[in-house]
Amino acid sequence: MSRRHLTSRQLETFVTVARLGSFSRAAEALHLTQPAVSIQIRQIADSVGLPLFEQSGRDIRLTAAGHELLQTARELDDSWSRFASAIDALKGLRKGRLRVALVTTAKYFLPRMLGNFCRRYPDIDIELEVANRARIVERLRANEDDLYIMSFPPEELDVVARPFLDNPLVVIAPVDYPLPAGPLTLADLVAHPFLLREAGSGTRRAIDRHLLKSGHALNVKLSLGSNEAIRDLVATGMGLAILSRHVLGESPAQSGIRILEVEGFPLRQPWSVVHLRQKILSLPARAFMDELLPALDGAPPQGG
Ligand code: PGA
Repeated sequence: MSRRHLTSRQLETFVTVARLGSFSRAAEALHLTQPAVSIQIRQIADSVGLPLFEQSGRDIRLTAAGHELLQTARELDDSWSRFASAIDALKGLRKGRLRVALVTTAKYFLPRMLGNFCRRYPDIDIELEVANRARIVERLRANEDDLYIMSFPPEELDVVARPFLDNPLVVIAPVDYPLPAGPLTLADLVAHPFLLREAGSGTRRAIDRHLLKSGHALNVKLSLGSNEAIRDLVATGMGLAILSRHVLGESPAQSGIRILEVEGFPLRQPWSVVHLRQKILSLPARAFMDELLPALDGAPPQGG
């Protein structure tokens, strides 16, 4: 088939249907009627010579041909943004769009960083996606964003990862929680109720790995997808938790939290800024990396 058979409008419609998983939601997002969307998808499928979507119960799913086309459309999008940035650079401008996806724990340092970046590049529009590690890895695999921030760059993907900031995980308790004085071991804590992040989060992955290595099992009373909810529930006395130090702010004691001294803790794993190795970074993405890497001093807030 020839590239001439596909218009960029048809590709945009295809990518929107693929992203939203529905013809009607894509029609709404694109301000088109649903039949108009279906006709465009049929036209592409006719040019390709294979169906792009298949029905799976009430949902639609990409076929193998659909996956290939989606990846190609994203690569075209990358090349176009790089071209647009190069033209802007030739004109002496620093314009464009930057998409960054980050794990939930990383959002606590971001305002400080973004403030500087936005002041320096006021004409770069930024789209941020905050989600847990599993979701960020999915986005990375699908090449949905320019850059990703996470602790455990996926080993199964060919990526470039540059560590830039320490993300210590600490054991916390309500300030007045009765525990023996002095340094503790995990064995002292196994009988106490724990509130932990959900499976699929980077935080939980680090904790589970540590438990596996140390041969301990915790009494997990609740698994939750929110750092803030866990922190606040610990402060109300519901139990202990293991969270990123960055979630606790400058003075945890003021919010009713105590950081415990536990052997083997904090668990240390730096955040990295990550992208697919084959990704052609746009100028805004490169500018963001240049800002990110030296801007942070590597020191999370200390003390309890
Ligand atoms: P999380 O990720 O927000 O999924 O816990 C933390 C991390 O990868 O550092």
